[in-house]
Amino acid sequence: MTIGSRVVVGISGASGAMLGIRILELLTAAGCETHLVVSTSAERTIAHEIGPDALHQARMVATHCHAIENVGATIASGSFRTAGMVVAPCSMRTLSAIASSAADNLLVRAADVHLKERRRLVLLTRETPLHLGHIRMMALATEMGAIIAPPVPAYYRRPQTVMDIIDHTARRAIDLLNLDLHALAEPWDGLR
Ligand SMILES: Cc1cc2nc3c(=O)[nH]c(=O)nc-3n(C[C@H](O)[C@H](O)[C@H](O)COP(=O)(O)O)c2cc1C
Repeated sequence: MTIGSRVVVGISGASGAMLGIRILELLTAAGCETHLVVSTSAERTIAHEIGPDALHQARMVATHCHAIENVGATIASGSFRTAGMVVAPCSMRTLSAIASSAADNLLVRAADVHLKERRRLVLLTRETPLHLGHIRMMALATEMGAIIAPPVPAYYRRPQTVMDIIDHTARRAIDLLNLDLHALAEPWDGLR
């Protein structure tokens, strides 16, 4: 296992918990070392949106799991090198905490570390509609180097199921990490 394939996956309490779980599945299947951290609110959204066993199953998929309150975990330190981090979905609360370096839990601390170490941080921010405060937080995070990638369906791909949308969004998010993997999302080859 190389640092180049070590990825942190954060799941926060916005709607769309399945996005984080699908990203985790794809990364682990691609041979990456995955470090999962789930916020307390996300534990509730995962149970509500997917089912009572879903969190346990997600934890079985990750190669490493960290408790949200464990700010002493490996991923809380810049000396623990990684290829990047994705937060999927990213709530407005977690976005705001990241944008203001309010690192009071491990997910936000790990994201803060990725920014300070100038590593890839991809945030699948999920809320609608947005007020100016949300937009300002996205601008702040972008200015600090994060990539804001809201999970907006690619309708032009003609998805047939919700899972098609989740899978494509997850693959695009992984592509944004710029890992040394084969492109996971099929590139668009233009309208015929
Ligand atoms: C079913 C459900 C769906 C939610 N969806 C969103 C959402 O899409 N975006 C958001 O910012 N917050 C959403 N929330 C609210 C967050 O869970 C709440 O703000 C929480 O404090 C976020 O904490 P975290 O950032 O530590 O995960 C939702 C809550 C529930 C129970």
